[in-house]
Amino acid sequence: MPSRPSSRPSRPTTGTDQGTRLSKASCRPSVECLESILSSRSQTERLGHVIGSLLTGGEVLALIGSLGAGKTALVRGIAAGLDVPPESVSSPTFVLAHEYHGRVPLVHIDLYRLRTGAEAESIGLNDYLDGSIVVAIEWADRFPEWLPADRLEVQLAHRTPTTRSALVTAQGSRSSLLLTRIVRAWQVVRHTPVSRKPARPAGRKAPVR
Ligand SMILES: Nc1ncnc2c1ncn2[C@@H]1O[C@H](COP(=O)(O)OP(=O)(O)OP(=O)(O)O)[C@@H](O)[C@H]1O
Ligand SMILES: [Mg+2]
Repeated sequence: MPSRPSSRPSRPTTGTDQGTRLSKASCRPSVECLESILSSRSQTERLGHVIGSLLTGGEVLALIGSLGAGKTALVRGIAAGLDVPPESVSSPTFVLAHEYHGRVPLVHIDLYRLRTGAEAESIGLNDYLDGSIVVAIEWADRFPEWLPADRLEVQLAHRTPTTRSALVTAQGSRSSLLLTRIVRAWQVVRHTPVSRKPARPAGRKAPVR
């Protein structure tokens, strides 16, 4: 499993690595969800692409999973699905938030380094969550109390060095509808190559507030 840069601060004390404070990591017959084995990084990006291509603006994607589980890879695919060049997407580990301007605006946030709710507030997390911007949040389980009631949760876990498991669940009616569409689309495209769209100008980094 890849390790975080040594300059990273020690782990925050809030939240968990596996997202157990959010939804339970299993599909139940009565609740729609998507469970899939992602056989490579490009397959993780492909799932992200499916999710991104179905976003209409303002959705919140809570990404949960341990170090190197593939959260940033998934966001790279989400960005591609929003017509943001995937190569412009990098981990917002030190900047904390990146903004991208695709078909609809996307903000990519990493809460790993944050220790307190006040720090989360200082990066403008609440402002981003006003419903006008797609917000993809790595380490979302650090601050579950900050998450809106309506959100898509993606839990990623290591299986082997090159495979990951993904569990996608929805909280709230808007995300449930989105999940239904994702499940349908994933069944169709999971074994087909992602078609790359023409590159657009790279996203810009958001100022740290
Ligand atoms: N099936 C897979 N899906 C995603 N990444 C994979 C997969 N197999 C191997 N990898 C590798 O695992 C790493 C995932 O890195 P990534 O930055 O996406 O993880 P992360 O969850 O964002 O980690 P962090 O918590 O440090 O931000 C990459 O080096 C990638 O090449
Ligand atoms: Mg990451």
